[in-house]
Amino acid sequence: MCPVREIISLPSVGPAEFKVAMRRIASTVTVITSMSGSAMNGMTATAVCSVSATPPCVLVVINRTNRSHALIESAGIFAINVLSEDQEHLAQHFALKSDNPFGDVDYHRGMTGAPVLEGCVASFECVVESQTRSGTHSIFVGRVVNAAERDEPPLLHTNGGFVKLESSHLM
Ligand SMILES: Cc1cc2nc3c(=O)[nH]c(=O)nc-3n(C[C@H](O)[C@H](O)[C@H](O)COP(=O)(O)O)c2cc1C
Repeated sequence: MCPVREIISLPSVGPAEFKVAMRRIASTVTVITSMSGSAMNGMTATAVCSVSATPPCVLVVINRTNRSHALIESAGIFAINVLSEDQEHLAQHFALKSDNPFGDVDYHRGMTGAPVLEGCVASFECVVESQTRSGTHSIFVGRVVNAAERDEPPLLHTNGGFVKLESSHLM
């Protein structure tokens, strides 16, 4: 093993090598919704994680070029909507930067005003506690002010595709 100073100066792996290895991670699929003034948006995201239970906090990792980034930064709120295995169409839709993101989507306004999608496995309505820049992305930690859940299987994403929990052992 190298001395500490040499370890710190080790070069990063290349982006291609990194992305190929990351494809092996299996994640639940969410739509992160946000609103600021009259603007509302939603974006598909897998970079979502529980942080702490006391206080209840979660984190989301969002590319700074995404439209959602500006909304969350300005309004300081967001909601995480965990998709069910019947909601792959929403994962596809919210990855496409639609001009009318909620035109054909069932939702209600949650406690913070951010849209909460109907039929999800779980939702977490959040107030931003902190924002940390890392590379091309921001990590937003949100304090959860409302949570809901349903007994439904979640949609999963791995190896570049969407899969259902019951069939995932076949991969
Ligand atoms: C399965 C999947 C997971 C994604 N996860 C993330 C994520 O965690 N963070 C992120 O910034 N973008 C993620 N994206 C990309 C965004 O969904 C995409 O760039 C979207 O168009 C951004 O929308 P917006 O610009 O309207 O906010 C993901 C896309 C897919 C299909």
